[in-house]
Amino acid sequence: MVEMLRTTDRATRERLIKEAGYNVFGLPSDAVYIDLLSDSGTTAMSDYQWAGMMMGDEAYAGSRNFYNLRDTIKEVMGYGYVVPAHQGRGAEHILMNVFVKPGDRVLGNMHFDTTEGHILLKGAEPVNCLAEAGYKVGEEADFKGNFDLDLLEAEINKDVDKAALILITITCNNNGGQPVSMENIRGVRKIADKYGIPVFFDAARFAENAYFIKHLEPGYKDKPVAEIVKEMFSYGDGCTMSAKKDALVNIGGFVAFRSEEHYRKAIEWQVPFEGYVTYGGLAGRDLEAMARGLKEVLNEDYLEDRIGQVRYLADLLVEAGIPIVRPPGGHGVYIDAKSMLPHIPRHQFPAQALTVELYVEGGIRGVELGGCAFGYKDPETGEDVWPELELVRLAIPRRVYTDRHMMVVARALKAVKQRASSIKGLRLVYEAPVMRHFTARFERLE
Ligand code: F0G
Repeated sequence: MVEMLRTTDRATRERLIKEAGYNVFGLPSDAVYIDLLSDSGTTAMSDYQWAGMMMGDEAYAGSRNFYNLRDTIKEVMGYGYVVPAHQGRGAEHILMNVFVKPGDRVLGNMHFDTTEGHILLKGAEPVNCLAEAGYKVGEEADFKGNFDLDLLEAEINKDVDKAALILITITCNNNGGQPVSMENIRGVRKIADKYGIPVFFDAARFAENAYFIKHLEPGYKDKPVAEIVKEMFSYGDGCTMSAKKDALVNIGGFVAFRSEEHYRKAIEWQVPFEGYVTYGGLAGRDLEAMARGLKEVLNEDYLEDRIGQVRYLADLLVEAGIPIVRPPGGHGVYIDAKSMLPHIPRHQFPAQALTVELYVEGGIRGVELGGCAFGYKDPETGEDVWPELELVRLAIPRRVYTDRHMMVVARALKAVKQRASSIKGLRLVYEAPVMRHFTARFERLE
């Protein structure tokens, strides 16, 4: 599909962002010129997927599209028990109810915010075991999504009985869409086996992760991505997936299991919250588009183009002197707001301020992944707890924009950089108890 883009003038953008409480989630998309808020659900579907949409079997139970999806997931990932859900967080909700009790701990490389939210809602503790390199934004290293395996084992040993689940997020979204190596995945499996802990993948961007393994990890360059994907998933007991990313669709998700026992438990939660077992909150046509997308995403020319475009934007920004997370990851470029706006203290939300300025400058919508998204007030001391990273993510939708759009983005950021020292911080005036960044409101400090 091709869409018209709309431009707005600066005064309109100033007014709209103020009305939105200086939070780009509150903007109407009509007032956004280039929308890099998310790569989630923003993909342009292919002719083959649209053709599949015409073949929806909308029976309440036993839709043929469900069977096609189930067989595709078995073929691509190797997991035979499939529980559709309306999107990734619906899948996470089910997964947490299968494995996690209040007081438990869920260990991951770095949990995404909805995952963290579901762990907390379950009364459990999210624990990140990302290797140190993953936090060093300017330092080039391969596989910055890797676990620190010693830290993982140490965290398990703090209380083995409470270690309910290990979740490997591929690619690791929060620190830049950074991949996890096969060697590291194997290492996680080995530790999990030692302690008898189930291992699941958050598979939102599994094909992008496999692409990086192919190109960066010794021994994989001649293996087809499809084979690499199969090997990655062979080390897990199942996965959750937000299909809005690497299944190339606008809505959908699922949990998949190797074991029938886990599946049986999962559907107890699926039916009341998502819908009957063969549709899980989706139309038959959505299941079909998902099944087709899961195979299409393995096309290596597609992946080269996709990840090549991310790299292209990253190169333009480096050339313009914008501090970004290096190397760029699979689905977007992440700007280090701490270095770009060093005069703004953490409690004035530098990454949020930068997001606002980029919108005002060029009508470009990125997203804050820093103190607003991941910071919180310590429930005991009431003190602010800040995450290590203070980033602005420019997530690139799949198959939507051209490289010329990327040039516009780079130009706007260059203009923001030129007036960086005059940019003011923000004051948080409203926050929800969990996942606050979606609805937070701010005022601009003068
Ligand atoms: N896991 C990861 C790694 C994600 O990036 C997301 C969503 C989810 C789970 C939740 O899936 O949105 O379908 O419920 N990420 C989007 C983003 C929102 O913009 O990165 P969902």
